[in-house]
Amino acid sequence: MAGHSTYVPQTKAARWLEQRLPIISLVRGSFVDFPTPKNLNYWWTFGGIAAVMLIAQIVTGVVLVMHYTPHVDMAFNSVEHIMRDVNYGWMMRYLHANGASMFFIAVYIHIFRGLYYGSYKAPREISWILGVVIFLLMMATAFMGYVLPWGQMSFWGATVITNLFSAIPLVGETITHWLWGGFAVDNPTLNRFFSLHYLLPFMILGVVLLHIWAFHTTGNNNPTGVDPKSEKDTVPFHPYYTMKDLLAIVVFMLLFAWFTFYLPNYMGHPDNYMEADPLVTPAHIVPEWYFLPFYAILRAIPDKLGGVLAMFGAIAMLFILPWLDTSRVRSATYRPAYRIFFWLFAVNCVALGWLGSRPAEGGYVLASQLCTAYYFAHFLIILPVLGFLEKPAALPASINEAVLGKNGSAQPSGAVSAPETRG
Ligand code: HEM
Repeated sequence: MAGHSTYVPQTKAARWLEQRLPIISLVRGSFVDFPTPKNLNYWWTFGGIAAVMLIAQIVTGVVLVMHYTPHVDMAFNSVEHIMRDVNYGWMMRYLHANGASMFFIAVYIHIFRGLYYGSYKAPREISWILGVVIFLLMMATAFMGYVLPWGQMSFWGATVITNLFSAIPLVGETITHWLWGGFAVDNPTLNRFFSLHYLLPFMILGVVLLHIWAFHTTGNNNPTGVDPKSEKDTVPFHPYYTMKDLLAIVVFMLLFAWFTFYLPNYMGHPDNYMEADPLVTPAHIVPEWYFLPFYAILRAIPDKLGGVLAMFGAIAMLFILPWLDTSRVRSATYRPAYRIFFWLFAVNCVALGWLGSRPAEGGYVLASQLCTAYYFAHFLIILPVLGFLEKPAALPASINEAVLGKNGSAQPSGAVSAPETRG
């Protein structure tokens, strides 16, 4: 991460620290002097936004734990106690619940940014794969967190998802009982989910540091996908990107505050305001919105094991993506055909999400099957073949040229430069 710092300790104390723990030059090399492509657009602010959301989740979570009781007889009421009796408890809970959704919004945008600009391609495969690991850990954390208030959706969601493991041949049943800590979702399940829900965010934090280390080793990608070639192509991270990130974070926080204070239950499910009852199954068991595309893939396959394999296969596609895309060009800006398929893929994901919220019957099942097939075709057929068939547009010689034009005068992007307006 370091290696770019021009930091020279000025005081005796700073020199003393530098010789023993060069943390100041590490931070300066990574977040102050770090040479960053000068053309990063606002889609590049979502990594920083995701980092802020991770910290926000940890802080609000630690406060909630001070008043929450992980026991099946008390969990639901302890959450109501937080909402009604604890000073600003309602705010902590709404910040945490809506914060989870906002965190997923930021990370989904971050992932699609990577897909559009080819950030997963060499040499950033490890940044990408660590990102997919983070995404998996986030899903596990969010799933277990949703069980903690012990409402109807908590209980039935946990029952449906843990039951999936029973589809594994031979050992499935044993694994499911082992996950539950008994013969049904019950107090031991709630307890272990609570323990893991507290642990995993810190593991995510660790993987995020590796993630940052990885893309600081390769350098950032940028909207052209062309590597920086000279000092003209980069600017120091501070103040240029600290300020750009800060503005984006403030705007994102306004959206977060809007949900938290004006629509706090918009992204939640009303059934979770009823205490868990193992004897009453809700009419429709639906997960939180951010799981819906994967839920649709799970239910698209009529066979339980097949559904589970398809769902995990959908994530596996992301792991091997760097080797499925055969194009040498990174950015969709210069890939006219990929650009179309990117948007088709995005629409297909939204369609899967919507289908995941519908009951698994009639036309919805068929539509889910078609969308699931397209999801896999995108990775396994379209991307490998497109790299050979597509004729990419001409790449700029450098980032500097893409920003300033061939003879160095500022150009609005996409503008056709008339000779008389050139300097
Ligand atoms: C807690 C979640 C995450 C945090 C805090 C995080 C943080 C960051 C930050 C700060 C950056 C640099 C700025 C930017 O490119 O936006 C970055 C870059 C990157 N992230 Fe993430 N990330 C997270 C999750 C993910 C996920 C889920 C993926 C993909 C599946 C991913 C893939 C990448 C890639 C490929 C880059 C390099 C892009 C470049 O060099 O321009 N990240 N991440």
